[in-house]
Amino acid sequence: MSENECQEARFSAATHPCAPASSRGDWAPLPQLMERLREQTSRPLEQATPLPAQTYADPAFYELEVDRILRKDWHAIARVEQVPGRGDFITVDLLGEPLVVVRGTDEAVRVLSRVCRHRYADVTADRSGMVPACGTIERFECPYHMWTYRLDGSLLNAVDMQRRSEFDPALYSLPEVRSEIWQGFIFVNLDAETTIPLGMEPVDHFLGQYDLSDWRVVSSKDWGELDAGWKPVVENAMEFYHHLGAHQHTLEEMLPGLTAEVGDGAAGVHLYTCRMPVSAAAAEGEEDGHLIAPVSLPPAPGLDGYHRGGTLLVTRFPMTVFAARADWSTWLQVLPTSVGTHRLIMHRLAHISNLPEGITEELADLSQQYIDPVQAEDSAVNGRVQANMSSAWATGGVLHDQEFPVLHLQRYLAFMLSRGSDG
Ligand code: FES
Ligand SMILES: [Fe+2]
Repeated sequence: MSENECQEARFSAATHPCAPASSRGDWAPLPQLMERLREQTSRPLEQATPLPAQTYADPAFYELEVDRILRKDWHAIARVEQVPGRGDFITVDLLGEPLVVVRGTDEAVRVLSRVCRHRYADVTADRSGMVPACGTIERFECPYHMWTYRLDGSLLNAVDMQRRSEFDPALYSLPEVRSEIWQGFIFVNLDAETTIPLGMEPVDHFLGQYDLSDWRVVSSKDWGELDAGWKPVVENAMEFYHHLGAHQHTLEEMLPGLTAEVGDGAAGVHLYTCRMPVSAAAAEGEEDGHLIAPVSLPPAPGLDGYHRGGTLLVTRFPMTVFAARADWSTWLQVLPTSVGTHRLIMHRLAHISNLPEGITEELADLSQQYIDPVQAEDSAVNGRVQANMSSAWATGGVLHDQEFPVLHLQRYLAFMLSRGSDG
């Protein structure tokens, strides 16, 4: 091709029907985007399409999400068994907020800010600046100027501050973050004034004989910071259509991508629930008219054929995802770190009846064996999807019926954004 022909081809490409609708960085104004979102999410499933790529890649839209959604709604950040005794704590960074979950001398579990009330050091850090993932303490001792706090966050001692006559220690407690416990999960809401209830009652009904209060975290694998924003990860975790491709050689045989009992949104705008029955090819027998899923541990007691016949998936939007199975349950902890990144921790839980000797190394190894390759496949595809959100040709497609949860997340997003900044 000559130089002229080459130029001509480039020019033609710009007017071709597949030409980019916009160049990245040239995003639509946010009000326009919000209007598009509102219109798009009011359509029925038969006309559903993916969200505009801008909602995944535009830092300004992410800021809006943080402000109106992520800091306004509830997130599971720990399990009660992770802080079993007085003084036991774990640290969690949520949306830029350094938090500590701690069991007090009164046995109550609290979630506190780790930001020292003196000059903002981390009260759990050591002198090298390292923040421990967990530990046991009698009090918080800030490494900077040695202010100390009780386990309930109240200020115990501010070194030599009595020389300031107006200094009132009662004004300098570590702030407590609003929290609630549901079936062993510790949920927090960063908005002290929130009017959104945690609202997990429909999940109690959906889970039926499962009571996750009787389950314990056996292992927590930290996948570190991964290249995908929170939405591609949550979408991927909720729909099973991708088993056909991403999990073709792992999950597809046991949990085929086209057979999930996709929910209808009846559990409300903040929740998505779905049952994934085991395939006939992988089933191990039948009970109460349901195929029974294979297990690598004895099934939790009291489960009938329906509950032993597959996986029950629950999402409490925006990003708490867990799945209950008869042998292992999984909690996918998604912690957004930027518009295009998140930190992922994969928790695996077993019923207490399977832990007569506590949590052994063998059990911890077993707990991640099955899920590890599957998560690697998900993280790989999520990373590629996120990268392509910056392409000028990322201009949408259509959703399959099995992708109803993706539409449901879109509707949640539109609902939360419409609540406005003072919601
Ligand atoms: S910053 Fe914590 S004691 Fe000074
Ligand atoms: Fe997956």
